[in-house]
Amino acid sequence: MDTIKGTFIAFEGIDGSGKSTQVRMLDERMKKEKIYCHTTMEPTDSPIGSLIHQIMTGRIKTDNKVISALFVADRLDHLLNDVDGIVHKINEGITVITDRYYFSSYAYQSVDMPMEQVISANKQSSDILRPTVTLFIDIPPDVAIERITKNRSHQELFEERSRLIQVRERYFEAFDRLNDTEKVIIIDGDRDAQEIADDIWEVVRDSVPLRQV
Ligand code: ADP
Ligand code: TYD
Repeated sequence: MDTIKGTFIAFEGIDGSGKSTQVRMLDERMKKEKIYCHTTMEPTDSPIGSLIHQIMTGRIKTDNKVISALFVADRLDHLLNDVDGIVHKINEGITVITDRYYFSSYAYQSVDMPMEQVISANKQSSDILRPTVTLFIDIPPDVAIERITKNRSHQELFEERSRLIQVRERYFEAFDRLNDTEKVIIIDGDRDAQEIADDIWEVVRDSVPLRQV
């Protein structure tokens, strides 16, 4: 008999789309339904992930190609590390929910380099584990900006806005490109958080073979 494997759910969206909120709400719902699950995120809090955070906050300067490669390495460690790697958990039958996975690289890193290159750099991860379903929380970049900005200068807001517009477009380009191999569900994120959570629960319950333990 085949070993039962856990389900792997990836949340994606531009910054401020409400991913972390929805990951938390789905986790609570799963626990209420007595479904054994583990939530996680990228960048991770591993040494590679903390290097990424230091680069993103400007404490360490490097080239965008290096950041892209670090995301690849962080993701592989996220999948494969012995302590709490995703693959290990999935093989134990645990449902894993991640806040960002390789579509984040496809969308964000492809602003600075060809998307094909980013997809190919992440091939090891996509070969090891594809999400059972990717949930893309879609909100207009202006709404995201409203949610995430406090005490920021006009120039910063302008740069942030144009970056988020580009990233959102890249997400849709990546979904189109990988339409044949990836299951992606677009969720309208510009609504009340509970309404979104209820929709997500419908998708997760209906399209993912959840097993209770
Ligand atoms: P992300 O993880 O995608 O960056 P968060 O879940 O951290 O997004 O949400 C960003 C901000 O927006 C937080 O202040 C959060 O409380 C708020 N927020 C999340 N979901 C909603 C929603 N549906 N409506 C209004 N505000 C929201
Ligand atoms: P984080 O502070 O976790 O933001 P959020 O709450 O919006 O997820 O930082 C994640 C940032 O890293 C976010 O701006 C997206 C970016 N990122 C990439 O550029 N590539 C990637 O592969 C990943 C996983 C994240």
